[in-house]
Amino acid sequence: MNGKRRTLAVFPGSFDPITNGHLDIIERSLTVFDLVTVAILVNLEKQPLFTVEERVEIIREEYQGNPRVKVDTFTGLLVDYAEKAGATVIVRGLRAISDFEFEFQMALMNRHLNSRIETVFMMPAERYSYLSSRLVKEVFQLGGGVRELVPAGVERRLREKYGRSRAPQTAPRRRAR
Ligand SMILES: Nc1ncnc2c1ncn2[C@@H]1O[C@H](COP(=O)(O)OP(=O)(O)OP(=O)(O)O)[C@@H](O)[C@H]1O
Ligand SMILES: [Mg+2]
Repeated sequence: MNGKRRTLAVFPGSFDPITNGHLDIIERSLTVFDLVTVAILVNLEKQPLFTVEERVEIIREEYQGNPRVKVDTFTGLLVDYAEKAGATVIVRGLRAISDFEFEFQMALMNRHLNSRIETVFMMPAERYSYLSSRLVKEVFQLGGGVRELVPAGVERRLREKYGRSRAPQTAPRRRAR
């Protein structure tokens, strides 16, 4: 990098589990920033489906061999974590207007707490704009297929967790118009 400082972006979230929407944002971040750390918030109040260790392992598997993507965990204030990690950017994904209000509030609060760190929003491909970890879990639990929505490692682990041996058909049925 010609002696220039490398820009590290932190992409924080629960990633319970990581979805193709998250991967899309990470890919886009890599076109703008040198390094991306996926930072898993350890939230003791929430009951996650995947343990923190499992979530770290899934994301590591996905990016093994890519030295520009790291995985880490954090507790406490995100800006404190980012500062310590040497990051200057927080990346967040914006799916729809519904994400906006909360994200706007968080971004301004984080700026208030630490103005050296800038929040950058990225829009996913449209096909992922309806996708959330919560919805993936719900759909899978109800018997729906999620193969096109999550990395293979996530789909496999969902099947293991719920004792489902084979993924159901995911091809959408065409509706006659
Ligand atoms: N499909 C998606 N497209 C773009 N950004 C996304 C998508 N899913 C999550 N993100 C972004 O990833 C970051 C981390 O989000 P988080 O881990 O809470 O995922 P989530 O899918 O919203 O999970 P949950 O359903 O549990 O709230 C947030 O900035 C969120 O907006
Ligand atoms: Mg969310």
